[in-house]
Amino acid sequence: MGRLDGKHALITGAAKGIGEATARAFAREGAKVMLTDIDNDSGRRVAESLGDAASYQHLDVMAPDDWTAAVEAAERQFGQLQVLINNAGGGIQGGIEETDLEGFRFAHRLNVDSTFLGMKACLPLMKTSGPSSIVNVSSVAGMVGAPNMLAYCSAKGAVRLLTKSAAMDFARRRYEIRCNSVHPAFTDTPLVDALVQTSPDRDKMKATLERNIPLRRLGRTDEIAAMIVFLASDESTFVTGAEMVVDGGLTAI
Ligand SMILES: NC(=O)c1ccc[n+]([C@@H]2O[C@H](COP(=O)([O-])OP(=O)(O)OC[C@H]3O[C@@H](n4cnc5c(N)ncnc54)[C@H](O)[C@@H]3O)[C@@H](O)[C@H]2O)c1
Repeated sequence: MGRLDGKHALITGAAKGIGEATARAFAREGAKVMLTDIDNDSGRRVAESLGDAASYQHLDVMAPDDWTAAVEAAERQFGQLQVLINNAGGGIQGGIEETDLEGFRFAHRLNVDSTFLGMKACLPLMKTSGPSSIVNVSSVAGMVGAPNMLAYCSAKGAVRLLTKSAAMDFARRRYEIRCNSVHPAFTDTPLVDALVQTSPDRDKMKATLERNIPLRRLGRTDEIAAMIVFLASDESTFVTGAEMVVDGGLTAI
């Protein structure tokens, strides 16, 4: 028996990193998964490696028309949708002086508008699919102020409260849909690789990231995926509007 048997899920940003690990964990736990991304080659490769449990659909999370097409595809393929994982996201570096309006808006389109669009597009199908769960991937940077990440912190903070407000609406309207956010600390993915690679001293940068985490290491993608599986599963049926940190103790300091 898988922990996600009978669930149908759509995951954004599933070609790499946390999204890929989540898709793999979902397939292992018995879910049928639609992987989506803008990196079509990698996304298809991951979906193919998961066999019948998975399919791939192009979806730029900032594009409303792509969301419409993805939900239509999910409806055609599954006829139902119990799980939405709004995972795709990322950030630009810089403090207030380095960040221009274009970059600030881009961070919000990629992290916040995308989450709003995803929930709005999937809601009609989820409302008719029985008990359902939305998981929005935020960050510890959406809970505490981090230097040099102004737009990212702002956007991930908005994802945190967008999640809570949606959860309260669903509860008040008696929809059987839970909605929670996940807040990873630095996790070993291509996103963090890129951050380390652009630093003048990569080893020092990586050591600094690790030193700031009480468990003295980066997170692993399977550790973030494990929390997402829990929130998608019926093990968490009394959990909604919650912010789940997976951060090696970072926010406990
Ligand atoms: N890695 C970390 O340290 C970390 C920490 C906290 C939060 N997060 C958050 O976790 C989520 C996943 O991060 P990751 O580290 O796995 O990232 P990643 O860069 O390793 O992978 C992100 C995936 O999203 C896809 N993507 C990018 N733009 C997209 C778009 N517009 N539409 C659809 N797909 C798009 C990419 O092609 C890629 O496959 C993000 O929301 C990120 O902000 C990551």
